[in-house]
Amino acid sequence: MSQNLKVTPITGALGAEVTGIDLRRLTPKDEALIQSAFLEHLVLCFRDQSLTPADLLALTERLGGAGETPYLTGMSDYPDVVPIIKEAQERSPVTFGAGWHTDFTFQALPPSRTLLYAVEVPPAGGDTLYCNLYRAYDSLSPGMKEMLEDMTAIHSSVRSYGPKATLKDHLENMRIVNETNEPPTMEHPVIRTHPESGKKALWVNPVYTIRFKNMTEAESAPILKYLNEFAVTPSFTCRVKWEKGSLTMWDNRCTQHCATSDYQGHRREMWRTTVAGERPLRSAA
Ligand code: SIN
Repeated sequence: MSQNLKVTPITGALGAEVTGIDLRRLTPKDEALIQSAFLEHLVLCFRDQSLTPADLLALTERLGGAGETPYLTGMSDYPDVVPIIKEAQERSPVTFGAGWHTDFTFQALPPSRTLLYAVEVPPAGGDTLYCNLYRAYDSLSPGMKEMLEDMTAIHSSVRSYGPKATLKDHLENMRIVNETNEPPTMEHPVIRTHPESGKKALWVNPVYTIRFKNMTEAESAPILKYLNEFAVTPSFTCRVKWEKGSLTMWDNRCTQHCATSDYQGHRREMWRTTVAGERPLRSAA
């Protein structure tokens, strides 16, 4: 029997809270309702879940199977489940994911979705912010849309996981393995068409997009700065306030997210998986 799923939008831009559903017991009807809510809201926060790593992986498998996770070390029994842990006594306030980004856009097939499950949360803080990249695209001027339409962006993991990256020095309780050599770059369209909704999204981000194709970093920088700031206009965003047992699933094909580093002195433990994605499309196939 299908469950009493209730979907409540978080803001007018994106995100919804979902209650009345146990993600371990989904019927085909529940899955269809969730998929339709996901396409509409882009970020779904399921409250009051009770998941083991095996449950989280089973859910990830049902949604399309785990994506490749470089650099981050997963659980020994479940390598596709990555613990994101900040202990109360860590010296640095910096938390994993504390900069606006879309997950792993340096990959040829970046993850379609990410699932993040809250095991332990601080009494306040540690929220995750999201922005709607369809809204960002739709709100650009016709001239800017025309200029970006055929442009290609170069993505790289160098800033976070390159040989000189210092991210891992701030994350004492995560096992991160940086590249020993300069990582390869990946080309993706600046305007990405979502394979399921057919809608266009502004698909660059400040962490992994390093320049435009056929332009230098210096030439690209002012345009990227403008686009990166524009994408996170407050009216394109929402904020998820975690509770123990919340699972948030977001669509990497049309959103960015940013963790907040505002809970130093408290413990936060999350489990993360990604769902395998497809090659980003410039326009509908
Ligand atoms: C992430 O960027 O994948 C993690 C976000 C968070 O921990 O809030």
